[in-house]
Amino acid sequence: MQIAETISAARAACRSLRASGSELGLVPTMGALHQGHLSLVRAAQESCGAVAASLFVNPRQFGPNEDFSRYPRTFEQDCALLRSAGVSLLFAPPVEEMYPTGADTIVEVERLSNRLDGASRPGHFRGVATVVAKLFHILAPHRAYFGQKDGVQVAVLRKMVRDLNFDLELVVCPTVRDPDGLAVSSRNRYLSEPQRSQALVLSRALRAAEERVAAGERAAPALLACARRVLAEAPEVRLDYLALVDPDTLEDVTELRRPAMLAVAAFVGGTRLIDNVLLPP
Ligand code: PAF
Repeated sequence: MQIAETISAARAACRSLRASGSELGLVPTMGALHQGHLSLVRAAQESCGAVAASLFVNPRQFGPNEDFSRYPRTFEQDCALLRSAGVSLLFAPPVEEMYPTGADTIVEVERLSNRLDGASRPGHFRGVATVVAKLFHILAPHRAYFGQKDGVQVAVLRKMVRDLNFDLELVVCPTVRDPDGLAVSSRNRYLSEPQRSQALVLSRALRAAEERVAAGERAAPALLACARRVLAEAPEVRLDYLALVDPDTLEDVTELRRPAMLAVAAFVGGTRLIDNVLLPP
């Protein structure tokens, strides 16, 4: 696996991967890799001849009181995982390479960026869209892979790809869960043992709503009330939002007529966790 720290080295490496006739798949990450990331790598390998990953803890997607400085950084371990997963290229630039002094241009997906996580984390999706647009320009993949766990991020990036005519396919892969239901996340490592058990209430609440849908319920208020009742079983978990929305527009839905996303965000101690499920009509 080649490791490129500069944009020019990464560009040259991607150019030669594409020149060898391979379709290029990109898995953008902030490191602290887990089974969710590795499932994206596997999906990329299934349909692309070569896979590149990026590892960049993007300062512009963290708010002033968020966890940028303590975000887990496990570079050596991440390299070993990507190497044994068969990744051809890792782009791991320093901050000054991505944002040299005077880098003022931003990508803002208006409206969507202010919904749900965007409402709670002002500026977060501007940072995400800006860095992902840069990665797409630098590495020019045929396909880019993201996890459904970040359902709002997926909606924002899908819209960005459409609005800015990026010539690539955005592939969304299912959320990977631990056997007890917790959605895997780099931030799970912040949780103490008791907090980890409390955090299970998120996936339990989503599953309860899924069961109500399977039993025939279609009305949003009933589904939200069902999930809220489960969340109330863990009063130490502080709810940020629970919403049933269209997965593309992120607008609230009142009834399941098309697939909808039931999404939740909550604080367990100081750790903000998110999860969602897609509910069939
Ligand atoms: O999902 C993430 O890890 C990040 O938001 C991403 C897409 C790598 C951009 O920094």
